[in-house]
Order: sequence, then C-alpha cells, then structure tokens
Amino acid sequence: MPEPIIKLTIDGKPVEAPRGTNIIEAAKAVGIEVPHYCYHPKLPVVGNCRMCLVDVGMPKIGADKKPVLDPDGKPVIAFGPKLAIGCNTAVAEGMVVHTRSPKVVKAREGVMEFLLINHPLDCPICDQAGECRLQEFSVDYGQGTSRFVEEKVHKPKRTPLGPKIVLDDERCILCSRCVRFMKDVAGQDCLGFVNRGSYSTLTCYPGREPNTNYDLNIVDICPVGALTSTDFRFKQRVWFLKETRSVCPNCATGCNTVLWSREGVVYRQTPADNDAVNQCWMCDYGRLHYKFINDPRRLTSPSVKSSVLGERFGLSWVDATRQVAEKLGTVKDIAAIASARATTEELFLFNKLVREVLRADLVDCVPHTGEGDRFLLSADRSPNATGAKLTGVTADPVGARIPNIAAGIASGKVRGLIVLGENVAKYGIAEGLLAKLELLVVIDTLPNQVTELAHYVLPGATFAEKRGTFINARGRIQRLNAAIPSPGIARPEWQTLAALLNELGANGDYLTIEDVFADMTRTLGPLAGLNLSKIGDWGVELKLEGPAFATEQPKNGGASVSLAAVQPSR
Ligand code: SF4
Ligand code: SF4
Ligand code: FES
Repeated sequence: MPEPIIKLTIDGKPVEAPRGTNIIEAAKAVGIEVPHYCYHPKLPVVGNCRMCLVDVGMPKIGADKKPVLDPDGKPVIAFGPKLAIGCNTAVAEGMVVHTRSPKVVKAREGVMEFLLINHPLDCPICDQAGECRLQEFSVDYGQGTSRFVEEKVHKPKRTPLGPKIVLDDERCILCSRCVRFMKDVAGQDCLGFVNRGSYSTLTCYPGREPNTNYDLNIVDICPVGALTSTDFRFKQRVWFLKETRSVCPNCATGCNTVLWSREGVVYRQTPADNDAVNQCWMCDYGRLHYKFINDPRRLTSPSVKSSVLGERFGLSWVDATRQVAEKLGTVKDIAAIASARATTEELFLFNKLVREVLRADLVDCVPHTGEGDRFLLSADRSPNATGAKLTGVTADPVGARIPNIAAGIASGKVRGLIVLGENVAKYGIAEGLLAKLELLVVIDTLPNQVTELAHYVLPGATFAEKRGTFINARGRIQRLNAAIPSPGIARPEWQTLAALLNELGANGDYLTIEDVFADMTRTLGPLAGLNLSKIGDWGVELKLEGPAFATEQPKNGGASVSLAAVQPSR
C-alpha cells in the first residue's frame, strides 16, 4: 500500500512527500539542495557528517491539543533550539523547514571549516578534483578562509586497498559510506575506523582487503579523493571527459552506465542510476571490461583474402559490399552464426539477410555463460540473448544448432558461413572446418583466428561506437548511445547488413537506426508502438511470452537489493 502523503513547507515552497521520506529527499524533489556527505539514498543512514543540518519547525500545539493560531489564523510554528539533520529527520504534517536561514548557513560554515582542518588541500594533484564534494561544498557553503594555523595531522597516503583501489587517508572525511557499502551491499565487512578524534583513520581489518566483484563502487560513492581507482587514477582530468549514457555489454542484467571519453578514447565506465535495473551500482567485471574498445589492433577497413597469394587486401565499402553480395549469391548452402552481444537492430537485419534472403536454416548465436551472483551479475554473459530470441536468430537453448553447423561444414552440406561478432573457432567450429569453407564472411571488431581465415572481413563498431538497443534478461529494452567514432572506416554492423540487403535486392533502405527500429516494430509484436525516444534513458519493460523468455534474473536485476542480503557477511 502506498505511504500517505505528508504536506510540509521547505524554504517557503509547499512540498508533498510520502510518509517516511527524509528532508534531503523531500527538498530534492522540489529542486532544493541540502548538502550532505555521509547520507546516500541506497545505504543505511548514520548521520555523522552534520553537513545536512537544517532548521526544522513544527506547528505549536496548545493546552487544548490543537494548533495555536496567529492573528491571521495561520498555525504558529515552533522552531527547536538546535538544528536537525536532514538525512535522519522524516517529513511530518505541517512541518516548516529552512535550509538557508542564517543559523543554517553559519552551521554549514562551521562543518566545512571543521572538515578542512586536517584535509591536505592537495587538490592540484588529487584525482577527484572536478568531481569532489569537498571542493564543491567549500565553494558553495564554506566561509572562504581558515583560522587553522597549527600543523595538520598527517595520515597514510597511497595505501593499496586491494588491487583495484588506492586509499589516501588524509583526504578521508570519515563519512563511512565505503564502510557501509562493503558491509551492507557487497557483503564483505572489511573496513572500519581506528583511533579517535583528529587521529581517526579508515583502514581495513587485518588481512581483509576488499575483494568482492563490487569494490569499485566505493570509489564512486566516496565524496572526496580518499578512494581512487587504480585503473583510472591520473589518466585524465574529469572535466576533459565527455559523458555518454550507455548499457554494460558484459552480462544479461544490462546495468546502466556512463562512458567517459575524450578524443575517441574511452577512459572509464561508471554506473548510471536506474532503480529498475542496477540501482546505482555495477560490478567490477563489467566496469573494467571496456579496454577492447581502445585496442590498437582494431579492424579498421574491409579486406579480402587473395585466393592465389593468400594475402589480405584492403577494400572500399562499395567494393566489399558488391563482392560479398556476389559471392553470397553464388555460394549456396549458407549457415550463419551471430553474437548475442550484437544489438537488437543488428540481429533483426542479420536474421532478415540470412533467413529471408539467403534462405539459411542453420542459424544460431554463441552462448556465453559464467557464474552469476544473484545480485547483479548474471550467469548469462550475453547482453542481448533476449533480443536474439525475439528477432528469431536463436532459440532456447542458445547455441543448440552450432554442432549441426559444424557437422554441416564437415559433411560439405554447408559451403558458406557468415559470422557476426564471434570468434567461432573457440565455440564449436574448429579452424580446420573453417578452412574447408568456400566462403567465410566475418563482421567483427578485433582480429582473431576466424578473421585470419575469412575470405572477407568487414570491420564493425563496439557498443561504445553505435546506437541501438539491448534487451536484458528481464525483457527490458534499453538504449546504447555512441560515445566515440569507430577507428578507420569501420562502421556499425547495421549499416553493413543494410548495404548487403540492398545489394542483394532486398529492401535495405535504412538511413538511420530509427528506420531499422521502425521496421522492427512492424514485425516484432512486443515492440509495437515503441520508438527509441519512448525507450528513453531508463528503458521499457517488454511483454515477452513463451518459454524461451523465462528468465533466471529476478526483479531488480538480481534477487536482492544487495549481495549482503543473499550471503552471510564474510
Ligand atoms: S574513504 Fe571516502 S567513503 Fe570512505 S569514509 Fe573516507 S571519505 Fe567516506
Ligand atoms: S552485472 Fe552484468 S551488466 Fe552489470 S556491470 Fe556487471 S557485467 Fe555489466
Ligand atoms: S548527511 Fe546528514 S549527517 Fe551526514
């Protein structure tokens, strides 16, 4: 049952919020910022930083237990002698909150001065500069000068906190967000404070460094530069980076992400908020698996292998499309293997090309599996197996037809193979079999055994270089956006597939990804009425029916709001 709505006033603005909402969130809903450090909406409240102090008044109640009214008939508001913390004060009927009264301004200046007493102020060499709440709040709410002339307390610097994180204790403001995340979300109780007063220091329990698949989330939620990521620190200043909203391509959960790029290079991947998928977290496996985008070996232009010399020659897209279409027209008995890491639009066009135009029966996707953890990480490591099933490229179980394709090549029944984005030599089609083919066309982003053997290699784009959609294990369709251009003349796979369709005389007149999506909505029932704008940044849950769409991923992207809830604290 929904919570009753409470009416209150914040800085003179009437506000309505469900019972139980705290003042920080109620104020945020009407565009008022209550600065805070220790409060995080997905962590237990501890109320230790005092940055969120606000002036709270309640209607005065008379001896008759009724509100006392002023001469104008309005309730008289009684303010407490002390300020209250907004993170741990719930809204109440008739409450009046001041977030900018002189008393509040003075208190915040005091808190900022206190927090900065022992802070090293090494912003010029701190990796958090540009996204540091201490910098931001000291400009917005600090007093601008310090009265502290004594020697600052010095604490350990550059302490490795496991292989992924570096801790600078001098910068830590002891908010305990990292302590609570590791204990209450990641399920590893390993961080805590030692010593007292100015000497209080964050440390890990002896022999218990963070070692979960979610550790790097504490770098995101640390409001200052105390925790930095070994992978990203000192690579770029954040103000140079462009932020592009995307979806992690490393498992079927489809965590929402932000790609941080500059001049064609992706420097880091961080989680984006989406309560329907990943809340505000992502796993380290997915976060750190982005370096293939920047791999210097990326395929940059179409190429053909000379049948005489065995050497590979570069081609223009026009020539490559014409030659591949010609060969596909002459070599019959084609099979096709796609990737469930491709976008739904690519899989739709792939299916159209191989099943409708080339009349191939043996079509499938390569399955990718691993261990899931019932929080976010799915055992299905393909981001779009649902899209592959919906478009008809594969069925349940994914990959069931791959042995038939291998047998077909061995017996000579299959003479040509089209591969979209998979090193099939590692997944059931041995190199010896690939070498027997009369025609091997590969669309991929990186060289591998299969591109080595391919007659035609058509370079594609990684998930960071194209638009399109993935459908996660729960049937939520979500958008990818292009953060950087592809290297050389490589291009998104949907363009290559559309060009081949056109060359083969089928309707491939798609000028934009929107055109492909519009065509999908006409033929794929669950997408009816949708377009990329309607999918928006948060995605749309599709109504998918049939046993092929039974998911192992329960609500929230995982079984629980935390890993701590599904396993005992380690
Ligand atoms: S390291 Fe960061 S998140 Fe952890 S207590 Fe210190 S300031 Fe807070
Ligand atoms: S849980 Fe899956 S989708 Fe989320 S970050 Fe990890 S690998 Fe990526
Ligand atoms: S945010 Fe309220 S005390 Fe820290």
